[in-house]
Amino acid sequence: MNETDTLVVEGLNGARKIKGTIAVNGSKNDALPALASSLLFQSPLTLTNVPEIEDIERLSTLLIGLGFSITKDKKTLTLDASQLHGATLDRDIAKKMRASIILTGPLLARQGEVHFPHPGGCVIGERPIDLFLDGFTQMGAKVNNRAGMYHLTTADGHLHGTEIFFRQQAVTATETFLLAGVLARGRTILKNCALEPEITSLGNCLVHHGAKISGLGTTTLVIDGGPLLTAKNPTYEIIPDRIEAGSFLILGALVARELIITDCEPEHLEAIIFCLQSAGAKIEIGKKQVIIRATPRQSYRALTIKTHEYPGFPTDLQALMSVFLTQARGESRLFETIFEGRLGHLETLARMGANVSIHNQHQATIVGPTPLVGRTVISPDLRAGLAYLLAGLIAKGQTVIHNVHYIDRGYERIDERLRALGLDVKRQH
Ligand code: EPZ
Repeated sequence: MNETDTLVVEGLNGARKIKGTIAVNGSKNDALPALASSLLFQSPLTLTNVPEIEDIERLSTLLIGLGFSITKDKKTLTLDASQLHGATLDRDIAKKMRASIILTGPLLARQGEVHFPHPGGCVIGERPIDLFLDGFTQMGAKVNNRAGMYHLTTADGHLHGTEIFFRQQAVTATETFLLAGVLARGRTILKNCALEPEITSLGNCLVHHGAKISGLGTTTLVIDGGPLLTAKNPTYEIIPDRIEAGSFLILGALVARELIITDCEPEHLEAIIFCLQSAGAKIEIGKKQVIIRATPRQSYRALTIKTHEYPGFPTDLQALMSVFLTQARGESRLFETIFEGRLGHLETLARMGANVSIHNQHQATIVGPTPLVGRTVISPDLRAGLAYLLAGLIAKGQTVIHNVHYIDRGYERIDERLRALGLDVKRQH
């Protein structure tokens, strides 16, 4: 895969004929903090079911730049921090990837200092980092900002536990301070934490390997800090990607007579399953799989979708859901409550024939069903890129998607996996 790849998609013009099975990969947003957690261990940490995607490669490169040795065998990564040196994140890489900020907490807690660039906003919003800087200050760090880099230092080489109330629930902020608390001196109490399953799963893994954490699964986490975790051969299996699973459910609702989605965790899919069923989709829930079925003339009811922190409707599925709503009968309403720049894809869907009205940065209306027509489009980010792919699959004619590298950041070999379902998606270099 490279930066100039494009995807060429032949539309089904609304036909629903796919019948097949697709397996869900390990979660990008679980694997990223899991890689960062390797800084907490004395022994090398082995991660299994790691998705083979660009963001994991990028975070691995950042860690290798800090002296890590990382071995990779397909979906298994082993991360050895024993030769860790320095505490400066490579500016060019860290700037491109918001998730690099997850490294700052464990690195500052372990090294007593950390130096990093602003992880940069992206099309979905400004992505401030005040929660991080304020929290680290409360834990005893001194924050300087020079020449576009943040320099965080500590007087005695340690962070100190304290009580932190997050002014809003934030996923990577919760993860960063959970990890920092494991090595901080004393007790760290985190309030108004995010409840994403990736946080709870990683926290349970740390507890299993000797960390003292309580409150997992609630909005208050209590961490009693100590030295590096001494568990021998620590391992962690990355949980299924609920956003990928949700993406395939929406795909199935629009192009499949039957789509079996395996290796997923239905318990993490309640919001998307509830919404699709409310629209009239037929979904069968198994132990580690979900099956969605649609008749050729299946019609769906319009919905009101309001994104919300977990377990509410995930903002990462909002763009894909917008495509679904262009095919739902009636007026649907969208409330994107998490980010202020995450409705831009609606303009592109309108160019493809959707009937959308954007009222402000957070609200829009979609009237359906409207037939879509294939266009040449530019993927602005990971999730909108997949939404364009889905729109191209239901449209009449051909859609060419540029900036496919954004999609590759979060969806492993997406074109191969869709072709395996019989969909006409070709990658062009
Ligand atoms: C995580 O991003 C995910 N990324 C995002 O997925 C996801 O969209 C987001 O959570 C919300 O669910 C990873 O887990 C790697 P936030 P994160 O901090 O943690 C504001 C994808 O496509 N905020 O929960 O960066 C922020 O502006 C990505 O996989 C501050 O104001 O999101 C936003 O409005 C996209 N100050 C809100 O909190 C801060 O210091 C939630 O953001 C931090 C965040």
